Amino acid sequence: MVLYNGLRLPDIGSGTYPYKEELVSLIPAMVDKGYRLFDTSDNYHNERFLGRGLSCVDLKLQNEIIVMSKYSRPQKSVRASFEESSESVFPDNLKGTRRIDIYLMHWPYPHLWKRRWREMEELYLAGSCKAIGVCNFNERKMQELLSFCRVKPMINQFECHPAFQQRELLQICRDENIQVVSYSPLARKCRDLFDNEILLSIAGTHNKTVSQIILKWNISEGRIPIPASSNMVHVTENIGLDFDLDADEIAMINSLEKGMRIRFDPDKRFAFPYRMAFFAYNLFLNVTTKAK
Ligand SMILES: NC(=O)c1ccc[n+]([C@@H]2O[C@H](COP(=O)([O-])OP(=O)(O)OC[C@H]3O[C@@H](n4cnc5c(N)ncnc54)[C@H](OP(=O)(O)O)[C@@H]3O)[C@@H](O)[C@H]2O)c1
Repeated sequence: MVLYNGLRLPDIGSGTYPYKEELVSLIPAMVDKGYRLFDTSDNYHNERFLGRGLSCVDLKLQNEIIVMSKYSRPQKSVRASFEESSESVFPDNLKGTRRIDIYLMHWPYPHLWKRRWREMEELYLAGSCKAIGVCNFNERKMQELLSFCRVKPMINQFECHPAFQQRELLQICRDENIQVVSYSPLARKCRDLFDNEILLSIAGTHNKTVSQIILKWNISEGRIPIPASSNMVHVTENIGLDFDLDADEIAMINSLEKGMRIRFDPDKRFAFPYRMAFFAYNLFLNVTTKAK
């Protein structure tokens, strides 16, 4: 897949949440299997383990790897958070030249996200990262961002699987040439999907697993799925997608939509009383950490 600024990304990446120490051995094994894109965040508390894993990878391959991290602490400036994340992943980086490749704003933080988006734009325009984007921006927030931004996000990362497809949001991203990255693409192994007769039957036709069908469906529709697994059988399976789905099969999977969100709803996450908790938390952090 190619972002609108020309950055080329693999068709599939890997999530890293909720893994920590296990990433040190998992990452080199995944790179060996062909993974080149890893998703993390400062609030996953695993960036340094991802970095330790990457440092075990052959130097030539390290340059092919793309690290995508997120801005999750709106009490801090984007620049300060970005530098901290870069240092966590690449502590011995070659004189500061190796940094996080793609930086995403994790949520549309109430009252703050516009100011912080300007800082994201500055980060990108200064050449500090190769792409910027957002996560969890729904239709309304995307429209707001599109009418406000000077640099359009290159990526929107949000929950997307057959039972929760967000078609309207997908269409906005398609119209604007914004790459969609699907998180929780396997709906966290939800039985509703894994026992679904349509998915089982398509999997049977191709002699593949339901996970492989779901991931291939995402890719066929132009999205980059980032499944997470620490099980090498699954890790291998998820990247072994050497088959094609036909238009009828894709239509059958599209028909499985049932509004089954499994992660936070961005609108509710920051609604009262969550909004109060969010502000209290940020106030607390402001007092206890030196905001840079
Ligand atoms: N931006 C955001 O707000 C946001 C939110 C949530 C997630 N994310 C990102 O998206 C990544 C993935 O999302 P997720 O972890 O929520 O959900 P997911 O990838 O849909 O589900 C992960 C679960 O699926 C299982 N699994 C993976 N491959 C499998 C396979 N081939 N067969 C059977 N089970 C399989 C894993 O268990 P095993 O270990 O047993 O394989 C794990 O329990 C995260 O790691 C994170 O990087 C971003």
